[in-house]
Amino acid sequence: MQRSLAALTSELQRLKAEGKRTVSISDESVALLRRALAPATSAAAQPRPAPVSAPTFSPAPAVSAPAKAVAAPAAKSEPSLPPAPVVRLPEGDKADRWAALRELVLSDPTCRANVRPGGQVVFGVGNIETRIMFVGEAPGAEEEQQGEPFVGPAGQLLTKMIGAMGLERPDVYIGNIMNWRPQMPVSAGGVQYGNRPPTAGEMAYCLPYLTAQIEVVAPQLIVALGKTAAEGLLGAGTFRALGEVRGHWHTFAGRPLMVTYHPSYVLHTPSSQNKRLIWEDLLKVMEKAGLEISDRQRGFFLGK
Ligand code: URA
Repeated sequence: MQRSLAALTSELQRLKAEGKRTVSISDESVALLRRALAPATSAAAQPRPAPVSAPTFSPAPAVSAPAKAVAAPAAKSEPSLPPAPVVRLPEGDKADRWAALRELVLSDPTCRANVRPGGQVVFGVGNIETRIMFVGEAPGAEEEQQGEPFVGPAGQLLTKMIGAMGLERPDVYIGNIMNWRPQMPVSAGGVQYGNRPPTAGEMAYCLPYLTAQIEVVAPQLIVALGKTAAEGLLGAGTFRALGEVRGHWHTFAGRPLMVTYHPSYVLHTPSSQNKRLIWEDLLKVMEKAGLEISDRQRGFFLGK
């Protein structure tokens, strides 16, 4: 029910953003809302609202054997998903292992079954020799269409953030906790509006695939973008608000993990202060990765 309620809320938010002030609502949705408001019912998951403004983060500075997945214990919270895969990577060089893993994920029947017609399973992309791996939440509409992480509005902003670090997108590796876009109800026209955060069970299913990518790529450090990515890597329930963990170094799979805001947060609240907070986290990432930092870069978004 939480999923349906999150979807309904998201759709109402979308309509509101379009300027609609009245909606006709089905009996089914009314019943859903009644059940959600009943005292014994748990709170609905908060949907992630769609981006509302254009990105402006622009400081403008100068195979061997195939990989195999076998069954592990099932995730309790998602009975409709099979057990999370246990990934066995083949021997071979990095490129072979990465290609085998990609093939494994793209052909995973559970991933494929969760992708809507016309959409694609989304695997990580980028430089497998990189020092820096970014990890986001889940594909959105553009990502499931193109089969690549972070190509929509949040992705464009992420690309600008990477540029501000003096790098280009192909210099880093970009992945997600999820390999499919968490499904939303489909409108009469066949369109799936909005996004919702993945459930714990969905994340538990896909996490072995991200962990395997980290093992293969072996980046010097990882950057978790937003609360869901941070929860996926640090563990659900390890923090309440992102502010508790962002801007600090943690550890995942034996590697330093920086937590920062998701680019879509800046899209929604594009204040200089928020940009500066993310930027300070990225400066720490640059320092740890041994990237050169100019005075100009150090000063981005200050005093505005
Ligand atoms: N947001 C994410 O977290 N990942 C994507 O790939 C796109 C948007």
